Amino acid sequence: MTNPTDQKKLRPATQLVHGGTLRSQFGETSEAMFLTQGFVYPTMEAAEARFTGDDPGFIYSRFSNPTVAMFEKRMALLEGAESARATASGMAAVTAALMGQVKAGDHVVAAKALFGSCRYVVEELMPRFGVESTLVDGTDLNQWKAAMRPNTKVVFLESPTNPQLEIIDIAAVAKIAHEGGAKLTVDNVFATPLLQSPLELGADCVVYSATKHVDGQGRVLGGVILASEEFIEAHVHNYLRQTGPALSPFNAWVLLKSLETLTVRVMQQQANAVRVADFLGEQTQIERVLYPTRKDHPQHKLAMRQMKGGGNVIAFDVRGGKEGAFRFSNALSIIKISNNLGDAKSLLTHPATTTHQRIGPVARAESGITDGMLRLSCGLEDVEDLIDDLKAGIAAVS
Ligand SMILES: Cc1ncc(COP(=O)(O)O)c(C=O)c1O
Repeated sequence: MTNPTDQKKLRPATQLVHGGTLRSQFGETSEAMFLTQGFVYPTMEAAEARFTGDDPGFIYSRFSNPTVAMFEKRMALLEGAESARATASGMAAVTAALMGQVKAGDHVVAAKALFGSCRYVVEELMPRFGVESTLVDGTDLNQWKAAMRPNTKVVFLESPTNPQLEIIDIAAVAKIAHEGGAKLTVDNVFATPLLQSPLELGADCVVYSATKHVDGQGRVLGGVILASEEFIEAHVHNYLRQTGPALSPFNAWVLLKSLETLTVRVMQQQANAVRVADFLGEQTQIERVLYPTRKDHPQHKLAMRQMKGGGNVIAFDVRGGKEGAFRFSNALSIIKISNNLGDAKSLLTHPATTTHQRIGPVARAESGITDGMLRLSCGLEDVEDLIDDLKAGIAAVS
């Protein structure tokens, strides 16, 4: 069997099928699901050795589990990270990655354009524990520089942003963070590990909601934190062990099996998105289309430099504000109304009244989220059927 060092040299599609597999004594083809809370030891001496670390085996599934470990190893290979820790959801990953780095008196700088729950963690949760935060326009590097303080420990961003698909210069923000003695964490959900590599661009930590493209079939929640061994040891390992947002072995098994098809799914979803974005761009009822690799995207050049592709999500403004967006959406039948993304099914969200409703109109305006904006996560359907469906939406606002 290929040893772990050789697996690092494999290409992503191969890593996603074989990476990190642990086989039991039965030699099963498909990865086994170890649905167990704990582990037994042949002797007290063996138990002692597990706890001292002399025998690096499993102890308890809040700490680690063979199926979860396979998922973590496969994700680490794909990301090119030394270490990975899985969590029960994407928000558990974001919260652990951020909270694990700070103490009272520290300061966090983050982009304003964050997923609503991430914004809650930075703007409301962390200040309750004495960690102040400053939110900046992520596309303005001067604002990042100006926001840095001597006590800034964490810099946090997502790119492309949810839902307006702004592109933030990860390499430039990493440099600003490092010059100020802080570490950069990137939420890479929209790009997936296949289309953008934040660690290569200088980030110190990458987080994912595995609920999105990694599962990609609408079944389980999950999250993962990826970084150097040093970062995980210093900031993540103990936080997760002692506070317990562990990924269940069942969910880890679903995610592990899903990774086998990640390349095929993401590439097909992306091909559908490129075609759909071009179609929407030609419609007079659509005021604006935002898709990272389109020439009319405000950060097109940066997207081309930083990303290997635009991904499967498109944001667009329907003429007529909220009423136009609702009429358009309610006329669709194949594309489903849902706040999720990355799924095999195409999903449509109205951020202003759902995912970004809580942040209020001022924050939405600051983030460029209009009342007519829709976010479409393109799925795996035949793209001609998606376009026919969108034509019904267009007709409803004409
Ligand atoms: C950018 C981003 N980060 C984090 C999350 C949270 O992930 P989860 O729902 O798995 O907790 C989501 C989605 O919900 C997201 O879109």
